[in-house]
This record gives sequence, structure tokens and C-alpha cells, in this order.
Amino acid sequence: MHYNSDVGVRILGIESSCDETAAAVVEDGARLLSSVVASQVATHRPYGGIVPELASREHLRAIVPIVGQALVEAGSSLRDLRAIAVTHGPGLVGSLLVGLTYAKALALSLRIPLIPVNHLEGHIHAVLLEEGTRQGAEIEFPALALVVSGGHTMTLVARRSGNRFQYTVLGKTRDDAAGEAFDKVAKLLALGYPGGPIIDRLAPHGDAAAVRFTPPKIKGNPLDFSFSGIKTAVLRYVQAQAMAEEIERRREALRTQPAAPLEWYLRMCDRRTLDLVASFQAAVVEDLVSRSVAAARQHDVRSLIVSGGVACNSLLRRRFRRLPPADAMPVYFPSPALSTDNAAMIAAAAYPKYLENESAGLDVPADAGLAL
Ligand code: KG4
Ligand code: ZN
Repeated sequence: MHYNSDVGVRILGIESSCDETAAAVVEDGARLLSSVVASQVATHRPYGGIVPELASREHLRAIVPIVGQALVEAGSSLRDLRAIAVTHGPGLVGSLLVGLTYAKALALSLRIPLIPVNHLEGHIHAVLLEEGTRQGAEIEFPALALVVSGGHTMTLVARRSGNRFQYTVLGKTRDDAAGEAFDKVAKLLALGYPGGPIIDRLAPHGDAAAVRFTPPKIKGNPLDFSFSGIKTAVLRYVQAQAMAEEIERRREALRTQPAAPLEWYLRMCDRRTLDLVASFQAAVVEDLVSRSVAAARQHDVRSLIVSGGVACNSLLRRRFRRLPPADAMPVYFPSPALSTDNAAMIAAAAYPKYLENESAGLDVPADAGLAL
């Protein structure tokens, strides 16, 4: 990404909206000097989902060493920083507060601007950051962005005018986020946590056409998403096929084997389970792709940006890269490390705001439901 710029501007990004404590140093919005992420997966794994109180406690433990590590890895000292960027929403309020409070203290003591960033805007900038690092053609705007993670599923149009970006939300989930559906189905089938990565690796071993799922009927905005129906359909299938015994066997075995290798899963899953997993993934991916393409068509965009944890999904990447000629356009994904939550995307999103002197007072609140 090329900005009308100032050079050598190092921004420290801090992200703590969900279950990852992250810090990163990015120079001029395009050079990634460091990106450190402390994952809490092991803490939440026994519960099969994120426990908000535990998340806040882990952020408190991690924030100081993680920021320190990001500075060391970037070869930077606090004095080299020109601004502190921090996620102020949306997310879990207790988690957000840890990063935000620490960022405020740093900005105050260093007397540099505090730049609050919307987490969703951050996910989009993960792509712009990496495209800025690669030399070549710039991403063309307007772009259709699909942000798809454990907490969010939405499409939006991103427009750019110089250093300013403007977003219009086109569709969002009415109930579960797509990543949440992956996690809940994995929990139901005793495949461990988080569900997305393991379902992604198991799906090629099953037949994606074996189980039919009816696409959700959505009244009102046809660009909205809904993933709670497919989760219930999986539950019904499990009951109808009497799969409980096999699932219980896996659940019991997983207690002593929390991060099992793929071979273990393949031994522990029968054909019905593999077919079900493959069919579930195909249905969710098809839904994400078709609604994004419909949104792109309606708004005459020039490129597609897909970001968020679920953007790691191999089938999703393949399907977007092989759109039929009538819908084909340049598609951009972040590398897997910058698809999931990280602070580099927050520092990158803050750079154009820095250039426009957009900073906040120390009274900026954490906003769990912050809209874009
Ligand atoms: O962006 P992220 O790290 O955190 C949120 O903001 O939610 O996304 C985490 C989500 C989880 O639900 C996880 O299951 C999902 O992303 N995920 C995947 C894959 N890798 C992570 N879903 C499908 N396929 C994957 N390969
Ligand atoms: Zn996220």
C-alpha cells in the first residue's frame, strides 16, 4: 500500500480484543518489523470455547512481556515510536480494557498520539500491509471485503481516497459467526478446539457431497449470513445416524490427547464423520463465497479481500481463487499468520490515521459492540 507519506514512522500496535494478546511494530504502514502473538488456545481448550474471565486474566499476564518482545524483535526502543495503535472494539470488554489501558499509559508517558483502531478495519489492513510489502500492482478500490472469523462474519465495501478509508457494511451474520460454527460443530463431534483448523485438515478425507444441507432462508437482506441452522442440522444428523457412541469415545480419548495429530483423528473418525465434516465445510464455504460474490456484483467492486481466522481455510481460498470467469477479479488473502488476530494489522490500519492526525484522547472507551 502506498500512502501520501512521512517516512520512518514506527507505530506500536496492541491487540487484545479476544483470546490473543498481540503486539507488533510496523514502519510506514507497510514494513512489518515484528509481530508477536500469545495464544490462549490451551487455556480455553478444556471448555471448547472462550471463557471471557479467563481471557482477561491471561491478557493481564501477557501484555507487558509481549510488548517488550515486539520491541526487541523490531530492534526498537520505546523512544523510536511515533504513535501507539490499539484495538478499542469490537470484542470482549474485559479483554479490550487490558490492551487499551496499557496503550493509554504508554502514549501518556511517551507523549505520543494514541490511535484507536476498529478490530474489523484491522483485519482488512492485514491484507493491505502485506500487499504493500510485496512490490507490484496496488489493490484497486472499491474492494469487497469479507471479514470472517470466530467473532465476525460480514461483507463490506471499502473505498479509499488518499489516506482515508471508508467502509459500508453490506451483510452480516444474524446469529453465529462462521468460525463459531466451525468451533461448535467440532465441539459437538469431539474434534477438539479450535474447530476450524482440524475440520480443514479432515475434510479432504471425506465426501463433501455425502450430506445435503439446505441453504439458510434469510428474510430481508439477502446478503446477510446465518450459520446456526447448519449447526442444528449437524446435531440432527448425528442423532439420526446414532453417532453418539463414537463421539463419546473420541471425547474421552481427547482428554489425554488435547492437541492430537491428524493421523490420530483419522484413526478415531469413521467414514460417516469424515463425510459429515467435509459436507459441513463445503456448505459453509459455498455460502460465504456465493454471498460475497453477490455483494461484489451489486457494488461493482474491483477486487476482493478475504480476512479473519476462517480466511485460513484451504477450501475457501481455493474457491475464491477459482471463481467462474464472469465473477473473477483479483482476490487477496493475508498470510495465515496475519489472517488470525494479530497486532500488525492494528499498527498498519493506524498509519493512514497518523498521517491524517487522527488520534484520540485518553478517555476513549473500550466498546464491545463497536460498529465499522
Ligand atoms: O480471527 P480469529 O483468530 O479470532 C476472532 O476474531 O475470532 O479467528 C479464529 C476463528 C476460530 O473460530 C477458528 O476455528 C477459525 O477462525 N479458523 C478456521 C481455520 N483456522 C482458524 N476456520 C476454518 N478453517 C481454518 N483453517
Ligand atoms: Zn479477529
